[in-house]
Amino acid sequence: MTDFHDGTRCVHAGLPAPAPGEPFLPGPVFAAPYHLDPWQGPAATPNGYGRPDNPTRRLLEAAIGELEGGDCRVFASGQAAITGLLLALLRPGDSVLLPADGYFPVRAFATDTLEGIGVRVQFAPTAGPYPSFEGVRLVLLETPANPGLDVVDVADLAARAHAAGALVAVDNTTATPLGQRPLDLGADLVVASGTKALTGHSDLLLGYVAGRSADLLDPITAWRTTTGAVPGAFDAWLAHRSLATLDLRLARQTANAEALARLLAGRADVTGLRWPGRPEDPAYPVASVQMRRMPGVLSFDLGDADRVARFLDAARLVAAATSFGGLHTTADRRAQWGDDTAPGFVRLSCGVEDTADLVSDIAAALDASLAEGPAAEPGGVIRAG
Ligand SMILES: Cc1ncc(COP(=O)(O)O)c(C=O)c1O
Repeated sequence: MTDFHDGTRCVHAGLPAPAPGEPFLPGPVFAAPYHLDPWQGPAATPNGYGRPDNPTRRLLEAAIGELEGGDCRVFASGQAAITGLLLALLRPGDSVLLPADGYFPVRAFATDTLEGIGVRVQFAPTAGPYPSFEGVRLVLLETPANPGLDVVDVADLAARAHAAGALVAVDNTTATPLGQRPLDLGADLVVASGTKALTGHSDLLLGYVAGRSADLLDPITAWRTTTGAVPGAFDAWLAHRSLATLDLRLARQTANAEALARLLAGRADVTGLRWPGRPEDPAYPVASVQMRRMPGVLSFDLGDADRVARFLDAARLVAAATSFGGLHTTADRRAQWGDDTAPGFVRLSCGVEDTADLVSDIAAALDASLAEGPAAEPGGVIRAG
């Protein structure tokens, strides 16, 4: 299917060859153990036990692998995939370089857990400058970074890191494999949360690692089997079913983000707008060359927590929710989760609503939020999406 365009590849990705009487996408196979051949045991079948083996999961892996251009292993969540990759590849005494502005639970994991087992952890901002890669075992990039949406030139970074002997992994959550293919850009591994735009229905958790080297994927697969960080069959099936519409969903999300970026850029009461698809955005020069399409996520600042609450209260089409990439437009004040962002910083994820409806609803909600109203409820700090 590699010779077809995005929409076609998404519809067909990972499907078994057509067979009369069989469904297009076989239903989920729910199994812990499978029947074994009494004489040959597990050698006779690809399915022995559910932790390493599940046919529903394998079809999903074939689908994501096709889109990323590598072999894929799915995990129970994005965090399971990222922490699995880091723990499977890093050893005490190794050095790892992580994004200073990336998904903050990954940063917390690095300083809490990786440093605790003797891994040296360094951070660099996604947009640079980057330190020397000498002595670094693994560089993890996140581009566009969540939630600030800076980008990095993956091909350039990979060439420099490889010259120093470092491996490069790219978190492709925000872009999805239709937005960019890090393996084609020179990365050794892709890692991502499939909870977001990839599956896009806000109804499951998923993660994956993809790559072209068995030497790298084998220890990660072994780690997954040992720790049991696998998605269940029903979630894997739902994810595969959702993949078929990825091209359609992204097209509308990107169009909505573009229209909203135009609206927000024109308002003096909104500051710090970031969307890599805007020619005025600092990320645009790299993003417009590196990315095949722009994300449906943008970020901006409304000044303080109360104004964000008034905005969310007034909006009819913007749900207050964390995560991003779903069918429904959502907005998240990141500081409420303990993310090191300003109190009025908002990450807004465009859904697939009609563009005109969304623009007028958000314009009206921003107007309404300018009037003073009840103070925002103080919230607890919990780490999340
Ligand atoms: C860039 C990025 N990577 C990884 C994750 C973790 O994914 P999950 O929530 O599926 O564990 C997230 C979640 O928001 C994310 O935004």
